[in-house]
Amino acid sequence: MSIIEKLKWRYATKKFDAAKKLSDAQVNTLKEAFNLTALSYGLQTLKMVVVQNQNLQDQLVDVSFGQRQVADASHVLILCIQTKIDENDVDAHFETIKSIRNTPDSILDPFKAQLHTTIKAMPLEKKVGWATRQAYIALGNLMTVCAIEGIDSCPMEGFLPAEVDNLLKLDAYGLNSVLMLPVGYRAEDDMFAEFKKVRKQMSETIIEM
Ligand SMILES: Cc1cc2nc3c(=O)[nH]c(=O)nc-3n(C[C@H](O)[C@H](O)[C@H](O)COP(=O)(O)O)c2cc1C
Repeated sequence: MSIIEKLKWRYATKKFDAAKKLSDAQVNTLKEAFNLTALSYGLQTLKMVVVQNQNLQDQLVDVSFGQRQVADASHVLILCIQTKIDENDVDAHFETIKSIRNTPDSILDPFKAQLHTTIKAMPLEKKVGWATRQAYIALGNLMTVCAIEGIDSCPMEGFLPAEVDNLLKLDAYGLNSVLMLPVGYRAEDDMFAEFKKVRKQMSETIIEM
């Protein structure tokens, strides 16, 4: 399949085959893809919670407006933002750069100082909006990787984040959930798999200059 055929094969899976599970290697690919997501300034202030626990998945249905995808999927990936983003994240990031690339402080310090100023000046709501936008980048990346790997997925913002946070005790990790991506295999009788894609004509969505 070409990449375009794979993207056409992908659809928001409404019904998963609960008997089919992803292999550890497949889940590992998704973990790596998440971790390789390009994020603003390279600051990785996102975390992905991987749920493979039937009891928790069943309870996720109740806080997702009854959407059963989360119960029947092989795994549920939950994209979370940190409740706190501050200068410590900036420092940790620059320490990581130093340890991986051996970049001297003289080169890093001006960038670090600039990012400190940016983060310090950012009000909490702006930080939350910024971090949440990063989570959507990770979601898109994961959906595409799933399509390439022949893994079915359903992007979801239809859930109650505060309830999910309570259920998974995300407070203890300093996290808030923002998006979910159940992954696995489509059920043979998921009628949505047969539906034609609904998209505007490219002439309506693309402007060439
Ligand atoms: C950010 C985002 C949130 C979504 N939330 C839900 C959801 O909660 N439940 C659901 O069934 N589909 C959800 N969808 C799926 C969209 O409705 C679907 O992707 C869109 O209609 C296009 O259809 P396709 O993905 O099958 O091509 C969501 C999609 C995105 C990108």
